[in-house]
Amino acid sequence: MAQIKKIAILTGGGDCPGLNAVIRAVVKTAVVKYGLEVVGIRKGYHGLYHNDFIPLTLDSVQEILSEGGTILKSSNKDNLFKYPARDEHGAVIRKDGKIVYHDASMRAVENLKREGIDALFILGGDGTLTSGRDFARLGVNVIAIPKTIDNDLNCTDYTFGFDTAVSVVSDCLDRLRTTAKSHGRIMVAEIMGRGAGWLTLHGGIAGAADVILLPEIPFDINKVATKIKDDLAAGKDFAIVAVAEGAKPKDGEIVVARVREDSPDPIRLGGIAKVVADELEELCNNEARATTLGHIQRGGSTSAHDRVLSSRYGCAAVELAMQGKFGNMVILKGDKIEYASLEDVIGQENKQVDPDSELVQVAKCLGICFGD
Ligand code: F6P
Repeated sequence: MAQIKKIAILTGGGDCPGLNAVIRAVVKTAVVKYGLEVVGIRKGYHGLYHNDFIPLTLDSVQEILSEGGTILKSSNKDNLFKYPARDEHGAVIRKDGKIVYHDASMRAVENLKREGIDALFILGGDGTLTSGRDFARLGVNVIAIPKTIDNDLNCTDYTFGFDTAVSVVSDCLDRLRTTAKSHGRIMVAEIMGRGAGWLTLHGGIAGAADVILLPEIPFDINKVATKIKDDLAAGKDFAIVAVAEGAKPKDGEIVVARVREDSPDPIRLGGIAKVVADELEELCNNEARATTLGHIQRGGSTSAHDRVLSSRYGCAAVELAMQGKFGNMVILKGDKIEYASLEDVIGQENKQVDPDSELVQVAKCLGICFGD
């Protein structure tokens, strides 16, 4: 057993349902089973830099299991290894119009030491966990827990938050279907996921999409149009198209909504649904509409499945810390909770959908077109 007395929890990156459920499980296991002191770090790495620690007790985690979001708040702007330099008034320093960065990681390490933190629990996706790996390399006792609606983290079958988002997408497609039917329209739904199509694939199958367009399978819009025209000719007078925000046409490019200069991951995707809807309207000679599901996919209450998974992850994370197995992330493999080194999680490209996978084949058996 490692000599652990006090732990800290940090939630970083885009929020997602299940964060509070993990916080609750970590606090309960740490306090009740091991008698540890727990603190939360507010607003992710921002709070680690600014020494923004708050006590977390059994009282603090009451009534939060079902709530989406994070009681600790989050930030997807603060990479302490590449942190914007600021002047004495707090203004970001620029040179030739560009932000000047510096490495602020040692200040964070000092803050953890001063606060007497023996282990740092980081709940995050690839950006947050890349810093987690780098803090582990600096000797911080890091335990990671895989969060993201994108499900694109390596080494784990599922991240928490994904299941809830799939349910939201499925529900949204159900809603789009009723209005699509009334008006005989093609409805194109844009779904989050960055460069991975997990959310669109699962949500699209669950929501009975006719077409699913993924970043992993560049599409030919003419093939999509042919599928829809065939369906229309056969008497189905509407269509549901689920398009991943990172999908792109063969020989085409992803559609970028904005570049966030102040973010470690500056590209924000968005706009592909409108492009696809406009093209389909013309090619199919049928009215089409685009809907961006957006942050609705990240909000609301946490699904029962994610509450269970998050609770399992939280408990397992404390056990890992007590065994002194730092620099690792808890993972789900099949139905078992295991752990993997952050070096392996972060050291490769994000996990993507395999176009030859069983689930893609299932979708094809169901008559879903991928535009390939
Ligand atoms: O990584 C989670 C995610 O929701 C992505 O699916 C999406 O592309 C991105 O975050 C949106 O980021 P933001 O909340 O900064 O707009």
